[in-house]
Order: sequence, then C-alpha cells, then structure tokens
Amino acid sequence: LLSQIGPDAHMRMILRKPPGQRTVDDLEFIYEELLHIKALSHLSTTVKRELAGVLIFESHPKAGTVLFNQGEEGTSWYIILKGSVNVVIYGKGVVCTLHEGDDFGKLALVNDAPRAASIVLREDNCHFLRVDKEDFNRILRDVEANTVRLKEHDQDVLVLEKIPAGNRISNQGNSQPQHKYIVMSGTPEKILEHFLETMRLEATLNEATDSVSNDFIMMHCVFMPNSQLCPALMAHYHAQPSQGTEQEKMDYALNNKRRVIRLVLQWAALYGDLLQEDEAAMAFLEEFYVSVSDDTRMIAALKEQLPELEKIVKQISEEPKAPQKKHKVLLQLFNTSDDRAQKRQPIRGSDEVLFKVYCIDQTCTTIRVPVSSSVKEVISAVADKLGSGEGLIIVKMSSGGEKVVLKPHDVSVFTTLSVNGRLFACPRDQFDSLAPLPEQEGPSTGTVGTFELMSSKDLAHQMTIYDWELFNCVHELELIYHTFGRHNFKKTTANLDLFLRRFNEIQFWVVTEICLCSQLSKRVQLLKKYIKIAAHCKEYKNLNSFFAIIMGLSNVAVSRLSLTWEDPSRNHRAYRLTVAKLDPPIIPFMPLLIKDMTFTHEGNKTFTDNLVNFEKMRMIANTVRTVKFCRSQSFNPDAALTNKNHQDVRSYVRQLNVIDNQRTLSQMSHRLEPRRA
Ligand code: CMP
Repeated sequence: LLSQIGPDAHMRMILRKPPGQRTVDDLEFIYEELLHIKALSHLSTTVKRELAGVLIFESHPKAGTVLFNQGEEGTSWYIILKGSVNVVIYGKGVVCTLHEGDDFGKLALVNDAPRAASIVLREDNCHFLRVDKEDFNRILRDVEANTVRLKEHDQDVLVLEKIPAGNRISNQGNSQPQHKYIVMSGTPEKILEHFLETMRLEATLNEATDSVSNDFIMMHCVFMPNSQLCPALMAHYHAQPSQGTEQEKMDYALNNKRRVIRLVLQWAALYGDLLQEDEAAMAFLEEFYVSVSDDTRMIAALKEQLPELEKIVKQISEEPKAPQKKHKVLLQLFNTSDDRAQKRQPIRGSDEVLFKVYCIDQTCTTIRVPVSSSVKEVISAVADKLGSGEGLIIVKMSSGGEKVVLKPHDVSVFTTLSVNGRLFACPRDQFDSLAPLPEQEGPSTGTVGTFELMSSKDLAHQMTIYDWELFNCVHELELIYHTFGRHNFKKTTANLDLFLRRFNEIQFWVVTEICLCSQLSKRVQLLKKYIKIAAHCKEYKNLNSFFAIIMGLSNVAVSRLSLTWEDPSRNHRAYRLTVAKLDPPIIPFMPLLIKDMTFTHEGNKTFTDNLVNFEKMRMIANTVRTVKFCRSQSFNPDAALTNKNHQDVRSYVRQLNVIDNQRTLSQMSHRLEPRRA
C-alpha cells in the first residue's frame, strides 16, 4: 500500500480513522512520522506515542477559511503539516504568518483564556494535525514547551513562560491546570493587550485573580507612562472585531469593553488621589466616562460598571473643592500649621513648601515653591528673592560638611536631605568656601532628664502612632518612583522620604542620647530603656522603629562601649521570618524593603531590546504588595494609653533633636570610654 500511495497519503488515511480504530502498526507509523515534526521535537518518546493515539487530521481546501476567531474559547491545538496561515488581530490585521511545522493555539488551552488571535488560511489546501482540548490537557498541558514566543512582523512581542499554577482559588471542573503561562517579557502594547484579553470578568474586583493585571497596573509607569497608556486604553475600548457573525462581533465587543472598563477601574483605584496631579489622566477619565455612558444607551449590559466609574470621575472633579483636600502650605519640617486639628494628609507634589535656603554668609532666604519642584525651579525661586541668579548652584550640605551640588533635573530635594541637612545656594565659584551652619551640629545636652520620666510603653506607643501617620501617607507608587529614580517620573516621593528620614532620626536619637550621657550608671539605665522601647515597638508590630532603635544601639559609637550586640545583618533573616508570621497592621522595616527593590532594580535590566522585562516588574510589584498587606488593617491606638494625657510624650517623640554626624558621635564615644591600651 505504502509504495502505491506514498507515506503522506498513508499517514492521512490513518489519521482520519477515529482514534479508537487505530492499530498497533498505525500507531507505530504515526509515531515515526511525528519524529520529523518541529513543533513536537521537544517532547519525550512517551508523549509522542500517546499523541499518536489522539492526533486528528484536518484539512481545508480554501484560502480565507477561518479556523477560529480571536476571543473565542479554545478547543484545540494545531500543527501545520502543509500550507500556511495568517495570525490576525483585531485592529492590527495580519501580525504574522505561520508555516509548515509551526504550531498555534495552545495559549488559550493552557491558560483557560480566550483566543488571542484569529487564524485564517493563507492558501488553498492546508493540512493540520489537531489535538483536542481534553487530550491536550491530559497529555500535553504540563509537558508543553516552557517558553512561547509570539511574533508580530518578525519581531518577538511577547515571551511567556510556563510555571506551576500554584493554588488557584477558582475551582472549575476537574481539569485543574497544573501549569500556566505567565509573561516574562514583551512590548508594552502587547503586554497590555495580553492582560486585557486574559482578564476574567466573572471575578469581582479585589480578588486575587486580579493580582496578575495588578502587576501591570502597578508597574506600567516604568515602561508605559499614562501619556501612552491612556490613549492605548481608549483605542482598546473602541476596538471593533473584524471577523465572525454579527452576534459574535457584538459579544466580543461587549466583553472587550467590559474588560477595558475593569482595567480602568483598577488603574484609577491604584492612583487614587494622585490622579489629580496628572491632567492627562484626568482628561482621559472624563472622556472615557463619556464614551461608556454613551454606550450604555445602546448596550444595557455595560450599565453595571457605570456607577463605579461615575463615582471616581465625580471624586476627582470635585475633590479640589473639598477644604481638607485643597493644596496645603507646608512648613520647613513638612507639617502644616494646623497639624493637630486634623489627620495628617499625604503631601502632594502640588503642595507648596516654605523652605529656607542658606547663602555663603549663612543668612537665609525663605522660598515658597511646590514640593515637586526641580532644582532648576528652586534656583529661579532663590534668584527671584536675591535679585540675581547668575550661575547659582544649589548645594545639599550635611552636618559633617559633605557637599553635593544638585543637578538641575533633580526633584524632591527638600525631603531627601539628611536629618540635619540644609540647602545652600551660591555662585559656583563660592562652592569651596561653603561651610555647615552651627545649628546643623545638633544638641550639646541630652534629654534623658525629660524622657526617663516617660514610660517606655507610652513612648513606643506615641512613636508608633506617629509612624503610622507617616506610613499611611506613603503611596505605593512612591516606592516605584524611588526605586527607578524619581526624576524619571517627575513625581515627588515626599511621603516615602519623610518616613525613611524618620528611621534615621530615631537611629540617631538613640546614639545621640547615649553619647550625651556622661554618667556611666545613667547610661546603663538609658540602654535598658531603649531596649524596652524597642520591645514595645515590636509588640505594636512597629518593625520600622524597632529596627531603628536596634540599629541605633548597634551603631559603632554605641556598640564599642564594651557592649556586645547582635550583628544586625543576621536579623534580616529573622525579620523576614517574623513578618511572615505577623498579621496586619504592621509597620514594616522600610529600609530593608527599599534595599530589596533597589537590588532587584540594579541587578536586572528593565528592557532587553524593545521588550519590557516583566519578570522584574513582577518581583518589584510583589515587594510593593507586602506594603499593601501591612496596611490592609488599620492601626487602632491603645485606648488605655490614649485616654490619659499624653501630650508631653506625643510632642517629645515628634521633635527629636539629634546629632547626625557619625564622626562627631564617634569622637564623643571615645571621650566617654577611651580606647583601651
Ligand atoms: P491562542 O491564543 O490559543 O490562539 C491564537 C494563537 O495564535 C495563539 O494561541 C498563538 O499560538 C498564536 N499566535 C502567534 N503569534 C501570535 C501573536 N503575535 N499574538 C497572539 N497570538 C499569536
């Protein structure tokens, strides 16, 4: 027989038999043929033998035949035996052509997602091998290639990798996937398209199923700023399917619109108040809202999401009028004058700050500028005040006399000063003669007398209340701006800066007080007191202040005072274990989180060629999510402690006066206990 009709025809004949009727010889023959197919070359012998039993032959005579449409449920996986097909995407047209030996259609099967593209025959008389969903899931799902590269116009646009699916909350049927494809890299547009397409509408907002698109929403500012994202979302919203029956087109368009709305809602929720700082984003939201409400007249099913969208649009357009949301004028220490009257509000880039800038003769001018001003803008504000701005530079001066000339595009200059740092302005040629102010040195007497009268628990409690105020003002996006360099975003990270600065302030407070305490017995008491405060902070799950105190105690100026302390780096492991066991509310050890993100950032490229390294985005998003987790429950001050009059403790912990010059502190330490011979 073979000699008469040739192997191809014989193969087709066997493959047309229903799988149950294939003989042992048939299976052996198919198996041999499978060895030559590129798309299967990575599979084991066993898998190929199993496939031989289930593969189905399918052929179509006419070019233009649609095998399946974008958005449909996936039912099969295909290998091209002969001919070629076009991959077609709505709004883009033909994105690539697949040829003999190529395969397609497994994404929808593995991820239980809709078809990411339509497949249209490019020539007459095409032959395929087909594996249907059930067989695919049984035999291939978990052994399929680890990496899938999607191409458009001969360029990789999306790289997916298979990982164990983990515990999924949704439980549909018994064919629970063991693996799924996740994005490793891709072009910004394709990543967006992928998340929109695979978004599940049945899940309600805030469910873990959204965490996948959450990575995108959280990180998009790094690779696709709002100025690009908003138009892309708008285009997706209005995208029209080009294939299928009228009903199919309607269904697709409706689902597509609902998914875009869902993503926009998630996006707006993440930004929250920050939206008001972004005029393009606000304009987009308003325009988007108009489009959706227009559509609801035609498509009743969209009404469901409209109220939520309406709420957000109302909020952002009305908020500036609400008195407590008006932009604030902040004082040098970033408090508003009426701080006590109300809950601390996050600092916004548009808030103004009254800030002192010093000159060479140590006089100062107070400028009033938006918090997010660049150094360039600070220079022109100073120049305005001084009446001349020829060649002015802005210098960051530490108490130890370290000077850094700020670059014109630097932002957030006010909040990133060291604890006793100051800003100076001078012509460039005076740079060398700039010297720190006497006030930058810090106190010359300690405050033990005051705070030894306060209970350790009260102190820890008030510190924690203050930390919570600062921590609650930090926006998740500030962590990302900080990690990737805030000047790249032109956004302020003031709230995060102040929280991080508080950490340093507490550290130096511990060292300063101990070094200013000349009496040995008092010093021993003081050490004990700090250890108690730290322990109470830990009880309040305030790990930030806890570590600040511990690190203050392990500062060389303190630790060399013949006391031995645990190596703080060993605590990091212990810290991670501790946090894993704690329930929120928690104040995390912020410098460690920042270090984790910076390591991830510096150790991994953001782009390779034109593809976003999305794995890196996911890692950073995970760290940011721990912050969200820590705050997912709100902190309730200890009623037993707040009832009493704690005004003194409260104001004490908010006005720590410290020496932040390590050299000075070490010298003081040597004076207290001279080096032993
Ligand atoms: P699936 O989503 O199941 O169905 C459409 C298939 O087209 C998809 O799996 C991929 O296998 C294949 N394909 C090839 N190139 C692309 C591309 N650029 N975008 C989307 N799908 C593609």
